[in-house]
Amino acid sequence: MVDLSCKYLGLELKNPVIVGSSGLTSSIENLRTIADKGAGAVVLKSIFEEQILYEAEKFLKSDNAEMRSWQDAFEGIVSKTEFYYEEAFGYLTSYAKEHTLNKYLELITEAKKTIDIPIIASINCSTQYDWQYFAKRIQEAGADALELNVYLLPSDFEKSGSDNEKVYFEIIREVKKYVTIPVSLKIGYYFSSLAQTALRLSETGIAGLTLFNRPYNPDIDIENLQTSASNIFSKDSEYSNTLRWVALLSGKLNCDIAASTGIHNHETVIKQLLAGADAVQMVSVFYKDHLHHFDVLPQILSDIETWMTNHNFKIISDFKGLLSRKNVHNPASYERVQFLRIFSSVE
Ligand SMILES: Cc1cc2nc3c(=O)[nH]c(=O)nc-3n(C[C@H](O)[C@H](O)[C@H](O)COP(=O)(O)O)c2cc1C
Repeated sequence: MVDLSCKYLGLELKNPVIVGSSGLTSSIENLRTIADKGAGAVVLKSIFEEQILYEAEKFLKSDNAEMRSWQDAFEGIVSKTEFYYEEAFGYLTSYAKEHTLNKYLELITEAKKTIDIPIIASINCSTQYDWQYFAKRIQEAGADALELNVYLLPSDFEKSGSDNEKVYFEIIREVKKYVTIPVSLKIGYYFSSLAQTALRLSETGIAGLTLFNRPYNPDIDIENLQTSASNIFSKDSEYSNTLRWVALLSGKLNCDIAASTGIHNHETVIKQLLAGADAVQMVSVFYKDHLHHFDVLPQILSDIETWMTNHNFKIISDFKGLLSRKNVHNPASYERVQFLRIFSSVE
């Protein structure tokens, strides 16, 4: 018998396979199925920083007595919201009507009563302005941890790399004023010095880094001359970038690492663990068969067990990080040599 149990963000997981944040993790029915099918933990669908600010403003402008009673809680949290685009504001208000913050908190509380795997709440944010108090409500609702998806494209011509990076540190500092549950940070890879920034972030007291957020992929519809979105779901070949960075960073950071993007089967779960990930997050694979989203989970877990048995590994730590680059003195020059060797031999 092999044992898949592991620790992630200081939480006990029965295995390292986490169902990542998506529309599939926003209902109690799905959370029940996710737990029944054997996931190690689940990250809830994110709420947006803008949504928190929108509701706070709505409360403050209201005359309703019940709403006014909330106002103390929201004191000082107003008006910094800048909705640059009419379209974005319209989307947000209709989204906020459907997905209220209270519903989110109720989902956490209900899930805690119903399922026995750790529940990681999620906030999608890009600024350090005045939404962090909501992290406390998430903690009070019973979440075991909080993942902050910092979605920040460094596209502002006025801002330097360090200006952009500062935002991450300020967000963590503010959130940590409100919560004691473990906080993890889900980041993209657009950093001028990813290794050093990841190291410095890991020294802020966060419990984990999720590598990587998969950004929205822009496209252009050439018939209608419009911009559009493409490739909402990842492909099973998309895991290499994460694999590279997990291997480079594992063993060097002061926090856990969850690998995310392009992990669709037991082989890629094992690869990420061999590279040194403490856990993996999977999303797109569950959208493949729209009728039975989570049926692949038990098979993935049983295939990991079979692989471990075949390789005489009894527990995850027997092989976690075996192929990390932590002992390679200069990984960049190692990569360069591999690049030269492989690409110069292709004619
Ligand atoms: C339909 C959909 C909704 C998503 N919603 C969220 C979200 O609310 N918060 C978040 O942090 N990530 C969200 N993601 C991103 C996933 O959590 C994940 O980072 C990304 O899909 C890459 O993992 P994958 O290759 O396993 O799909 C979403 C992804 C999809 C496909």
